[in-house]
Amino acid sequence: MLREIDRVAANPAASAADPAFLADVLAGFASAQKAVPARWFYDHRGSELFEAITALPEYYPTRTERRILAAAAGEIAARVGPRRAVVEFGSGSSAKTPLLLSAVAPSAYVPVDISGAFLRESAAALARSFPHLPIHPLEADFLKPLALPAALAGAPRLGFFPGSTIGNMEADAAVDLLRTLAATLGAGAQLVIGIDRIKGEDVLLPAYDDAQGVTAQFNLNVLVRINRELGANIPVRAFRHRVRWNDAAARIEMHLEAQRDLAFTIAGRPFSIRAGETIHTENSHKYGPRDASLLLRAAGWTPVAGWTDPEELFAVLLAEVAP
Ligand code: AVJ
Repeated sequence: MLREIDRVAANPAASAADPAFLADVLAGFASAQKAVPARWFYDHRGSELFEAITALPEYYPTRTERRILAAAAGEIAARVGPRRAVVEFGSGSSAKTPLLLSAVAPSAYVPVDISGAFLRESAAALARSFPHLPIHPLEADFLKPLALPAALAGAPRLGFFPGSTIGNMEADAAVDLLRTLAATLGAGAQLVIGIDRIKGEDVLLPAYDDAQGVTAQFNLNVLVRINRELGANIPVRAFRHRVRWNDAAARIEMHLEAQRDLAFTIAGRPFSIRAGETIHTENSHKYGPRDASLLLRAAGWTPVAGWTDPEELFAVLLAEVAP
């Protein structure tokens, strides 16, 4: 029995490749600028590598957001009130969640993530810290409207969308997503959202190109995942991690650059890439204070309060659904 499970796990392309992953990768490798959407970084290994990134000295967002949340917890609690159901989007390791949960005394907690295994591990760890809190993990893609667990009943919702995950999206998609979150959360919803600020390249570039090479491993892992899950033979070691600041678009871009001309197959289909050509794997948009407010308003949210750190590296905003 175990051997059978191992065999399937070692060769999942032979069974069930995620059709959405396959479609995104085939379309992305067929376009002029090759690209893979950033959401596919987060297999189990990718989620682990991202957790390692959040602890890097160069990666300021996580620790800065945590400090902002800790300092603003009392004010957030006063504006939110008790007994809301907290719904966290892209919960990952739920590392910042205790700060919010301890502050707002919620009636339930719903972590939503596309990485099911990671989600369950994190929910179990959180349950040990909050033994009386009902926790309902939801393995789902929050880009689509979600049906929240019936157990939440009529409790008003507080969305929690930390980490500047919104930064992965271009403005139009970010607005669509914020509208979808409002639809998922329902009438009277509030949202605590973390958004990374625009700042100098001296700080931005090392945050995405760390000295230990963890971000490089995170970036390259998407190729490992394509090879494993989509039956591909991309020579991973022939690619290099590249980071650039696109000032016009106010975003960090991550790419994987081919070091020589390469040919490979994905799900039996042939592809090639020239030396120096890149696969665009991530955008991380940064927002000035007014940019962030405008983004929320454009999606039907009214910002009601905001907090930043003394260096203004990162911002946390509280918004309410416009009635
Ligand atoms: C999870 C999208 C917020 O953009 O900073 C970190 C992902 N990529 N290092 C970010 C990421 C490389 C991260 N987000």
